[in-house]
Amino acid sequence: MTMEYKDLIESKNSVRDYKEKEVDAATVKKIRDFAQSCERLDDSIGIDIRFMDNDTVYRQLDGYAGYKGILINAPHYMIVLSEKKDHYIENGGYVGESISVKAHSLGVDSCWITFKDSRTVIEKLNIVTDKEVVAIMALGYGKKRFKKVTGNVTLGKGYANADFQVKDSVTSPRMPLEEIVFLDTWGNKATVDELVNRAVYEPLNYARMAPSTLNRQPWRFIIDGGLLILTVRDDEDTNLYEEQIDAGIVMLYCKKVMRETLCEISWNLEPVENKYNIPDNYKIVASCSM
Ligand SMILES: Cc1cc2nc3c(=O)[nH]c(=O)nc-3n(C[C@H](O)[C@H](O)[C@H](O)COP(=O)(O)O)c2cc1C
Repeated sequence: MTMEYKDLIESKNSVRDYKEKEVDAATVKKIRDFAQSCERLDDSIGIDIRFMDNDTVYRQLDGYAGYKGILINAPHYMIVLSEKKDHYIENGGYVGESISVKAHSLGVDSCWITFKDSRTVIEKLNIVTDKEVVAIMALGYGKKRFKKVTGNVTLGKGYANADFQVKDSVTSPRMPLEEIVFLDTWGNKATVDELVNRAVYEPLNYARMAPSTLNRQPWRFIIDGGLLILTVRDDEDTNLYEEQIDAGIVMLYCKKVMRETLCEISWNLEPVENKYNIPDNYKIVASCSM
């Protein structure tokens, strides 16, 4: 039975503590095959995905990649290399997370790993390529299984009564949806009922569960009639790469859950006029018609 994307998102967490056990070859092949053919944000951008084992990666990148240079010790790593074109980093976030969700559907855990610059990673790992590293991910079987918590939304009573505790109960809490979705203009918070009436409650509520660098949850959405605008925060402790990766990941979650609950959407990465009073530390990164 194939699980819905919503269920996969709900039950997925970043895993940092791995068993030594390697992922079996058949499962690795399924992940690799998926990686070759999975949906992209922009099909015209060439991507090359390498799967590498612990002995090729861990000693080379520990001290360099990962929060504070501490690399997660995992049996496998995935390196996503991309052709350098407009929006290639957002595309890398989209594809990288898509593979991570696929791995999760096959019982394989993962965690994104931050890094400073592509060239150093390529040199340290002896990769021969004309592309840039856009994603590094640890893969394997986590020592602990997270308990999946689900619930129903109680309508008409606002967020405080929404019985939807997914992810809030485990290690990385998420902001309430009302803090991240605005109607018509910045700061005009949308209520649960307004979002349900517009049929965007589910997609945005699942988008909120997207992983992001340092769990900073930089995304804010503005609903302008039938247009959904995605903005992302520019923080001092994150760089442009991390902002664009975080944006790509949330676009994946939105698109997949929109497809399951509302309609097919297509993200437009071209500039949109800022008529929404967006503060200086946020910028519009994409929009879509719903
Ligand atoms: C681009 C990116 C880089 C990340 N880098 C690291 C990392 O180097 N080390 C780490 O432990 N977690 C890393 N994470 C995982 C985030 O901290 C995690 O997604 C966030 O805290 C939310 O937790 P959850 O994924 O368990 O829901 C990264 C996530 C993203 C999206």
